[in-house]
Amino acid sequence: MNKKMTISSIKKAKGITPLVMITAYDALFASLFEDSCDMLLVGDSLNMSFAGKSDTISATMEQMIYHTNAVCAGAQNSFVICDMPFGTYTNKEDALKNSIKVFQETKADCVKIEGGADKADIVKHLTSNAIAVCGHIGLLPQSVRSEGGYKVKGKTDKEILSLIADARAIEEAGAFCIVIEGVKAGVAEEVAKSVDIPVIGIGAGVDVDGQVLVFSDMLGLFEAFTPKFVKKYMDGASLVRKSVEEYAAQVRTKEFPQEIHTY
Ligand code: KIV
Repeated sequence: MNKKMTISSIKKAKGITPLVMITAYDALFASLFEDSCDMLLVGDSLNMSFAGKSDTISATMEQMIYHTNAVCAGAQNSFVICDMPFGTYTNKEDALKNSIKVFQETKADCVKIEGGADKADIVKHLTSNAIAVCGHIGLLPQSVRSEGGYKVKGKTDKEILSLIADARAIEEAGAFCIVIEGVKAGVAEEVAKSVDIPVIGIGAGVDVDGQVLVFSDMLGLFEAFTPKFVKKYMDGASLVRKSVEEYAAQVRTKEFPQEIHTY
């Protein structure tokens, strides 16, 4: 069993070992990921791949707490991040009240909030009240409706400067690491170099301090769409469909159960 990562070992990994983060929404998959990954993210992406919604906007605190508890139970030796859902950290007071709820009702090690310099005062308020924070900059899935779609960032000089300013502001506010999503690779590299905390990429190229993928994407289970940055490490949907088809056929032909499955 690997030693559980801590805020300090995660920070120390920068520039030494690429960090491995993966999403997890339940105890079963969390237990399967625990030995290979450094951090498990209970992402609000569960609202899409688990709850079947078209975006993350309607995820709730209750959902995040339920799934975070399941992940913590299944992977007791993992560093677990709970994503704060849309609308739960619009001001300092709500952010702290809702983060305290996460800390009191689950064993999550930190919360993750989307936003850059505009959220620095909120991050500062959380970190100065003993809530560890992972930032999330670049393409922000919770802004999908206000931005009119998922837009890759870092395409103009203005965006590049603002990404660097975002990362620095979040670091200055006390975050211990930052997820950077949907950013041109060279720009993400520059952002990672501009701060002393790890910058974990998703759709941000290889020259950052680690990677995160949504597990249902990388296992090929989520079929609705596959972003360019996803590598499918298995064709999970076909495997599941084929196995269940075989089970159904065997039930119908009475090939299952056999004697070995019978008391
Ligand atoms: O919700 C999520 O899974 C995330 C990842 C895309 C980083 O925030």
